Amino acid sequence: MTMRAFLEVAQKQGWLTTIRQEVDPYLELAAVAAALDGRPVLFSQVRGYPGWRVVTGVASDRRYFAKSLGCAPQQLLFELARAFAEPQPAPVVTQAPCQHVVHQPGDLTALPILKHLPDDGGRYITAGVLISRDAERGLNASFHRLLQVGPRQLAARLVENRGTHSAWRKADGDLPVSIAIGVPLHGLLAASMSPEPGLFEMTIAQALAPMPLVRCLGNDLLVPAQAEVILEGRLTQQLTAEGPFVDLTETSDRVRQQPIIEIDRITHRAHPIYHALLPGLLEHKLLMGMPKEPSIFAAVQQVADVKNVHITPGGASWLHAVVQIAKQGPDDGQRAAMAAFAGHGSLKHVVVVDEDVDIFDPHQVEWALATRVQAGRDVMLLRDQPASSLDPSARQQAGQKSRSDKMAVDATIPWDSASGPAHPQHFQRVAFPQVRLSEYDERFR
Ligand SMILES: Cc1cc2nc3c(=O)[nH]c(=O)nc-3n(C[C@H](O)[C@H](O)[C@H](O)COP(=O)(O)O)c2cc1C
Repeated sequence: MTMRAFLEVAQKQGWLTTIRQEVDPYLELAAVAAALDGRPVLFSQVRGYPGWRVVTGVASDRRYFAKSLGCAPQQLLFELARAFAEPQPAPVVTQAPCQHVVHQPGDLTALPILKHLPDDGGRYITAGVLISRDAERGLNASFHRLLQVGPRQLAARLVENRGTHSAWRKADGDLPVSIAIGVPLHGLLAASMSPEPGLFEMTIAQALAPMPLVRCLGNDLLVPAQAEVILEGRLTQQLTAEGPFVDLTETSDRVRQQPIIEIDRITHRAHPIYHALLPGLLEHKLLMGMPKEPSIFAAVQQVADVKNVHITPGGASWLHAVVQIAKQGPDDGQRAAMAAFAGHGSLKHVVVVDEDVDIFDPHQVEWALATRVQAGRDVMLLRDQPASSLDPSARQQAGQKSRSDKMAVDATIPWDSASGPAHPQHFQRVAFPQVRLSEYDERFR
């Protein structure tokens, strides 16, 4: 489903908020969108950019992904795992909506690029999926925040040793790149995944839902045909200051020297919709965290009967996970926790619960911590582990992987023997019988 088709569905579902009043993309629009975090918001009048609309929040709730993929929110992990295991070649079309209007040379000042917060390094493109070709590994798609540093120049934040970074390091001079903005939700999800090198993320997208691609006009890269905007350009070897900018943890990331992209051409749909993703808020969080759930699931599956995994928004959708298992033996909780760390190297704290705990309800997870845990027995502490650079409390050293302590909590019902708990009934949550309130009070009729 294209992003436009999703907006129509969101309208029918009552999810979409449309702001018709004129809003300035310089420091105003992000504040309005942040106040409506968790909802898709369409800004139909953008000050200084007639003909453009801006959308935020399309990916800010699991229900939106579920709707666009035609599954239940709890099934998303399994849909992602299936697509990851069985990628499909995406069809290449010759006519594409994203190439309807062509500007050559492109001028970035014609795009409603947001300045989000006063202390940011400048205006940032945040929902850009960058497509590049590695000389050995082939096509790669990945998100990169992009600071506008000139009318035709962007500074790209490239995390070291990931797909784009290694293609750029190998390039002898400029590396052709294209940036797609306004990508369908399943394309956004696929672009946030880290498959093994050589697997193009858009083939995972195609396994989730149709993802036609089109060849760019000025380079040999394939981009999502249904995207709203495509920037064609070159990732140069020239560096400039990038940052500060808010990251996933809602704290400000520091300034680094990063490579400049020269933009050669901009193409877009008629009446384009520019997708802006608010840094650190729910859309950013879900896109980062959700693709790691299948990796944790696969790792835990090696050691326990895992039922589901949730990377929680309270843990910046990166540092915390809740793992649900059907316990078969006394040590399953501890083994599941250790496997979860192997499934997601940036994980810092993990809680393992039984099947009767809803892992999407933080109150239920806390209830399991309150009623099933004895710290001396159930808390495991791992000191000085390789960790996420996003954690401001981690020990950071330039040029080296961050280090952090990690903690696992086994919040499953403790077993007294190999066969189970002596008094399982002590640990069960009592439920009152369900009643029809309408039979008792007319307010509920
Ligand atoms: C919203 C969002 C923003 C991201 N921003 C960046 C970024 O600025 N730089 C970066 O290197 N990775 C960023 N990432 C992570 C990459 O998209 C992700 O790690 C990708 O899967 C890397 O895969 P690759 O190794 O195949 O390139 C971002 C992810 C999301 C979801």
